[in-house]
Amino acid sequence: MNVRITGTGSALPGKILTNAELERLVDTSDEWITTRTGIKERRIAVDGEYTSTFAAEAARRAMAMAGARPEEIDLIIIGTVTPDFPFPSTACIVQDLLGATNATAFDISAACSGFLYGLSIAEKYLRTGAARKILVIGSEVLSRIVDWQDRNTCVLFGDGAGAVVLEASEGGHSLLSTHTFSNGAFWNLLYQPGSGSRNPAADSRTFDERLIYLKMEGNDVFKHAVRAMEEAAIAALNANGLTSADISLMIPHQANQRIIDATSKRLGVGPERVFTNLHLYGNTSSASIPIALDEVNRQGIVTSDNKLLLVAFGGGFTYASAVINW
Ligand code: ACO
Repeated sequence: MNVRITGTGSALPGKILTNAELERLVDTSDEWITTRTGIKERRIAVDGEYTSTFAAEAARRAMAMAGARPEEIDLIIIGTVTPDFPFPSTACIVQDLLGATNATAFDISAACSGFLYGLSIAEKYLRTGAARKILVIGSEVLSRIVDWQDRNTCVLFGDGAGAVVLEASEGGHSLLSTHTFSNGAFWNLLYQPGSGSRNPAADSRTFDERLIYLKMEGNDVFKHAVRAMEEAAIAALNANGLTSADISLMIPHQANQRIIDATSKRLGVGPERVFTNLHLYGNTSSASIPIALDEVNRQGIVTSDNKLLLVAFGGGFTYASAVINW
């Protein structure tokens, strides 16, 4: 039984925040942000827009492409670190927004690897026959956990969502394999200290010490990210008897152009075979790969039988990869 992506969709806030506008918020410059990260602008949610808003819109677009009706969806998985609420899951809220009354719905917490973790779980449901049509979504409103007084982090992140419909099928293009990894030894290099059980949101200390905001040791994360993405990519190639020369297009997590360049260089994938859109959206965590996949699909950047390598890295640490025969 093959596992096919039959629809892709994405949804982004209309509001754009440019590097020039950030120069007025913190002590930074367009030149610093561009040369250190590759990011030029990012999308930011406005009042009344939530993680579920973008997740549902991206899902509707993916379902329209797949020709899937809401009641046909068996499972909704959302990768997110910025859920609408600690509970219930954002996936249950999206189930309601879509009218997907027959679905089981849950969120997974794997930071920027959330979409590929979700793809891996969905693959197993489909291969075992436990589900027939699945929505896998990555959706984030990171702007609400970013410290807008911290220039080390606030320039990096953006909001948005991407989604795919996955189905079991006899033929056609298919998801060849997925690979997931975790290394909890470094959980405190990239995390949100406050609002969980250690530093409850209601404690004044959590607020006073700005623990509610995302914290990151950027330099350390950078080094681990390059090594881990290389490891995940090689695992995916080896599992399918491929070399990097067989890959038509690599879609890496869109965190930083320098991480992407270093990873692709180590793998021997030239820049003409690496998709990037982070200059437009910044790092949208779990949403970055499905947004990119939707753009690649709708723009016809890949054609039939092209092999796609997806690779992600995120807080946890988590890292993951997938190979798709398009
Ligand atoms: N504007 C201007 N100066 C800045 C800014 C800014 N926005 N941010 C930091 N600086 C300064 C620092 O204060 C430092 O100054 P100092 O030398 O006077 O102390 C100087 O720039 C250099 O700082 P570094 O942290 O060494 O800069 P670096 O080249 O490492 O770039 C960056 C920082 C972009 C964060 C990089 O480390 C990085 O990309 N790390 C990976 C981060 C990432 O991608 N995380 C997400 C991956 S996982 C996930 O997506 C959840």
